[in-house]
Amino acid sequence: MQDKWTSVDTYFTDHLVPSDDVLEGALKTSDESGLPAIAVAPNQGKLLMLMAQMRDAKKILEIGTLGGYSTIWLARALPADGHLITLEYEQHHADVASKNIKHAGFADQVEIRVGAAIDSLPTLADEGHVFDFIFIDANKDDYPAYLDWSIKLSRKGTAIFADNVVRNGEVANASTSDIYVQGAQGLIKMLNEDPRVNATALQTVGSKGYDGFALAIVL
Ligand code: SAH
Ligand code: DHB
Ligand code: MG
Repeated sequence: MQDKWTSVDTYFTDHLVPSDDVLEGALKTSDESGLPAIAVAPNQGKLLMLMAQMRDAKKILEIGTLGGYSTIWLARALPADGHLITLEYEQHHADVASKNIKHAGFADQVEIRVGAAIDSLPTLADEGHVFDFIFIDANKDDYPAYLDWSIKLSRKGTAIFADNVVRNGEVANASTSDIYVQGAQGLIKMLNEDPRVNATALQTVGSKGYDGFALAIVL
C-alpha cells in the first residue's frame, strides 16, 4: 500500500502545492547537511499553514524545528507583525534551520531557541508569551509534558496540533513498550481528561507511511 499512499501524496502535492524553490531548497540543504528526512510532507505543511491562517495566528510556537521546513510553512501564515518561536535540541539542526528560515525571508519574524524544549517552555511562560497556534513535533516521549506547557502558553481559542500520534497503529496497543507510542497515548489520555481542552485525532496515510495527528482547541 505504501506505493499507492506515496503516489496520492505526490498527486495532491503536484496539483495543490505549487513548486517552490524556498521550501524545496530547505529540504535539499537539510538532506545535504545530514538531517533525517522526517519533515512534514508538503501537503501536510500546507495544512499547517491553512490552519494557522484559520486561527488568524499572530503568535505561533513550534516544538521540534529540524531544518525549518514546517517552520517556513507556518511562518507563511503570519501577518507582517506576526512572530514564531521554534524550539530545537540539536545545535546542528538549528544552524541548518536558521539558514533556511533566513533564505525564506523570515529572519526577523522567526526565533529559534536551542535546548531541550522541556527547559525552554517554562522560560517562555516566565516571559509572558501567549500563542495562537502551537505545533508539537519533537521527541514523542515528552508529548504529555509538551501539551501541558502548550496549554499554559495558550489563550481561549488557541489551536494545538500534535504530529505522529498513530505510529503505524501502535497507539491502540495498550501493552506497547515503545516510549514514543506511550507518549502519544499519554497525550490522547490527557486530551480526553483535561478540562482545559477539547480535541480529536485522525489517522493518516501518505508518503511518510501510516501515522496521524491530534488537534485540540483551548477552552
Ligand atoms: N517540525 C519539523 C520536524 C521535526 S523532527 C518539520 O516537520 O519540518 C523532530 C525534531 O525535534 C528534531 O530536529 C529533533 O532534534 C528535535 N528534538 C528532539 N528532542 C528534542 C527536545 N528534547 N527538545 C527540542 N527538540 C527536540
Ligand atoms: C518520524 C517522523 C516524524 O514526523 C517525526 O516528527 C519524527 C520522527 C519518523 O518517521 O521517524
Ligand atoms: Mg513529525
